Amino acid sequence: MALLLGDVAPDFEADTTIGKIHFHEWLGKSWGVLFSHPKDYTPVCTTELGATAKLKNEFARRGVKVIGLSVDSVQDHVGWKRDIEQTQGATVEFPMIADPDMRVANLYGMIHPNASDRFTVRSVFVIDPNKKVRMTLNYPASAGRNFDEILRVVDSLQLTDRHKVATPVNWKQGDDVIIVPSVSNEEAKKLFPEGWKEIKPYLRVVRQPRD
Ligand code: BEZ
Repeated sequence: MALLLGDVAPDFEADTTIGKIHFHEWLGKSWGVLFSHPKDYTPVCTTELGATAKLKNEFARRGVKVIGLSVDSVQDHVGWKRDIEQTQGATVEFPMIADPDMRVANLYGMIHPNASDRFTVRSVFVIDPNKKVRMTLNYPASAGRNFDEILRVVDSLQLTDRHKVATPVNWKQGDDVIIVPSVSNEEAKKLFPEGWKEIKPYLRVVRQPRD
């Protein structure tokens, strides 16, 4: 059974590039992004890990801890990090899980046997401070992901949690947002005293709240 949005992210112990971790304990009260890549020392993965390393401050600013995973060993991860540094100009400072027996990968449904029974697909799980899975995606090995999009989803989730707003298609920071349908107009008056634009009763647009 696949992990579904709202499920508790399974806890596990694993060896990583920063030593053994207990996942939930490592997450603490932070948000988390757990992502798998198919294989160390492969081209698309090398670019992805470099790009993610460069976003270190962006993840930190949002209170997000990032952790990678593949079926490779810690030793492979450590050696490959040097290649990433050399070719992508970025140091991977987030931990990488070594999952050679695919224990964690299977727990999270990262092995899609009809794609490959030897490597994970490119999965991403965004996990909130209550350890709930809030976003999942699965990409094929041949398509590198857009990690700016993952930050965008984190921004959207955090806005929803803080302000009861949702984000429209192709939303970016600073664009108007939408009052979630579960908020009545009476409640909206308290939450958004400056008002909103009602395009339809179900489509109420408001300036992006600032924290
Ligand atoms: C890559 O990262 O380039 C890659 C990894 C596994 C299969 C195909 C491509």
